[in-house]
Amino acid sequence: MRTQVAIIGAGPAGLMLGRLLERAGVDAVIIERKSADYVLGRIRAGVLEQGAVDLLDAAGVGQRMHQEGLIHKGIDLAFDGDMLNINFEKLIGKHVMVYGQTEVTRDLMAARQDSGALTIYEADDVAIQDFDGATPRVTYRKDGVTHTLDCDVIAGCDGFHGVCRASVPEQSVTSFERVYPFGWLGVLVDQPPVGEELIYAHHEHGFALCSMRSNTRSRYYVQVPSDEKAANWSDDRFWDELRARLNPATAAALKTAASIEKSVAPLRSFVAEPLRFGNLFLAGDAAHIVPPTGAKGLNLAMSDVKVLAEALIERFLERSTAGVDGYSPTVLQRIWKAERFSWWMTSMLHTFPETGAFGRRIQRAEFDYLASSLAAQQSLAENYTGLP
Ligand code: FAD
Ligand code: DHB
Repeated sequence: MRTQVAIIGAGPAGLMLGRLLERAGVDAVIIERKSADYVLGRIRAGVLEQGAVDLLDAAGVGQRMHQEGLIHKGIDLAFDGDMLNINFEKLIGKHVMVYGQTEVTRDLMAARQDSGALTIYEADDVAIQDFDGATPRVTYRKDGVTHTLDCDVIAGCDGFHGVCRASVPEQSVTSFERVYPFGWLGVLVDQPPVGEELIYAHHEHGFALCSMRSNTRSRYYVQVPSDEKAANWSDDRFWDELRARLNPATAAALKTAASIEKSVAPLRSFVAEPLRFGNLFLAGDAAHIVPPTGAKGLNLAMSDVKVLAEALIERFLERSTAGVDGYSPTVLQRIWKAERFSWWMTSMLHTFPETGAFGRRIQRAEFDYLASSLAAQQSLAENYTGLP
């Protein structure tokens, strides 16, 4: 089999790239190691920047998002129970969209199925070959049979643990990484959200986040040590700990029920440089990881593939390599700014065992400064809603 672009991974990055290429008439095949149902079962991001909303519209898959997504004009921050509303609309005239990654993925999968574009799910032993040479190709096993997909370009959209970045010789790539000593324990529940806005809360027990998927489905997180197991947390233990970290009025308003999903996600900051190796391009979580505090991971994946799609369309349809040559430096600029913001939100709101009383005072000063400074609030708003 032969295609122009072999896309590894059917997460939001791979599916969106496939969609943008398909609409421009560039041929692409997606190879995914899991089943479509498995991919849809992973509960992850919930907040879309305007840029991601615009991209879903441009890809012709924004209809359901506009019907079911919730426009949020701000967020609430809480520090030891003191509340601060950050109103993006008042501060900078922008807002974000609450629409789950699962739904984004579902919409992209449905569009791909309708158009008949090929996705190979449950592909085992995916390997990429000669991406720096004249005959790039992907090999994989499906139902016990080994297949080869010849291509011109390989797009590594296979997440942090994927095969693409791991196939690059060690001396050709530099990794910048910070692993945090904690993770987020997340619970999904069919109950109305506790507040109108998302609440990002700092408490001496640790960070907590009140988020949502719809007016009837909520998503809550508490900071836990990175080696913590979800199985150690009964629903009651989770709700008690969440309430303890919220201000009393919010805690009293919290509606609980049996959880429908519960999992721990580790927190990490990571960037690989560069993001192009001959005919291999990395995008999304394969290229970088942000701690989820700033709600940037999915949005960065979307902005990477927007730039990559334009570059590949230029290469295949206009026979110009300017776009692909500029891909890595272009996207890395935005990536580092999102890394900075995600690190900053994480630093302000989590408890860090090693920083002690001094660190907590600095965090409180950061919160008080935000509360008192329009400029600081505008900076938060600008970054949260998405930089250009
Ligand atoms: P992935 O979604 O990881 O997709 C990669 C795909 O590649 C997967 O389907 C995987 O199965 C497949 N794959 C892996 N290895 C191989 C292989 N060898 N061969 C073939 N296929 C392979 N981001 C936000 O923007 N906003 C948020 O609010 C937000 N909240 C989050 C909350 C949590 C708890 C977590 C964990 C993440 C959150 N994120 C958020 C981050 C966001 O979910 C990710 O950044 C996003 O999933 C990245 O998409 P991706 O397509 O690059 O990678
Ligand atoms: C969600 C996750 C985030 O990381 C975030 O900052 C906001 C919302 C969520 O899963 O709903």
